[in-house]
Amino acid sequence: MLFTASSSQKEVWSIIKNHLHLGASDPKHPFHFVNLCTLDGDQPDSRYVVLREVNAALQLFIYTDSRSEKIAQINKNPNVSLLFYHAEERCQVKINGKANIVSNTEIHKEHWKSIQKDAQKGYQSILAPKTTVSRPEEGWEQKSDFQSKNFSVISILPDQIECLQLDRRGHLRIAFDKVKNNWIPAWLVP
Ligand SMILES: Cc1cc2nc3c(=O)[nH]c(=O)nc-3n(C[C@H](O)[C@H](O)[C@H](O)COP(=O)(O)O)c2cc1C
Repeated sequence: MLFTASSSQKEVWSIIKNHLHLGASDPKHPFHFVNLCTLDGDQPDSRYVVLREVNAALQLFIYTDSRSEKIAQINKNPNVSLLFYHAEERCQVKINGKANIVSNTEIHKEHWKSIQKDAQKGYQSILAPKTTVSRPEEGWEQKSDFQSKNFSVISILPDQIECLQLDRRGHLRIAFDKVKNNWIPAWLVP
């Protein structure tokens, strides 16, 4: 369990923040992969992505292809939801917040430089993601000069973080709401 009924709200906050940081830095941590839900009009659209960075302000960073559906969706509606699950500790963490596409800035350049050549390859496909092809191999064709043109960084600023700790003695649910730059905690009925 990541927290118990006797953990203080302050302790829960610090444990959850720590696990989010671990999710970004440790590829073996269960929070390294996260379900990102965006809105396509009024239709929710989910997919797994890799959590790349969490900064001190609790801003979360994800990398993707600039031509992907999620980028178009975020450009139209920045409201997103992230869902993590720590299976071993039986703890779910949901983050609702606003996404922003970071492009043509120093931050974008730094992230591009920080990823390995092999990972940069992932952004060189000639055809855009989701293009219909007659054979799978057509979709693997790549440009040989490694450009950052199709590389996008998505930053997500949370405004609510909710945790559900499963426990045989009684499940625990706690929410943290961002109100004027302060995180307000509240225990909830699970
Ligand atoms: C374990 C896993 C990790 C993934 N990580 C990423 C990622 O970090 N960035 C990304 O754009 N797509 C990632 N994908 C692929 C996405 O789930 C998705 O298929 C792709 O980004 C297209 O999404 P979209 O068309 O909804 O934008 C990952 C898929 C899996 C299964």
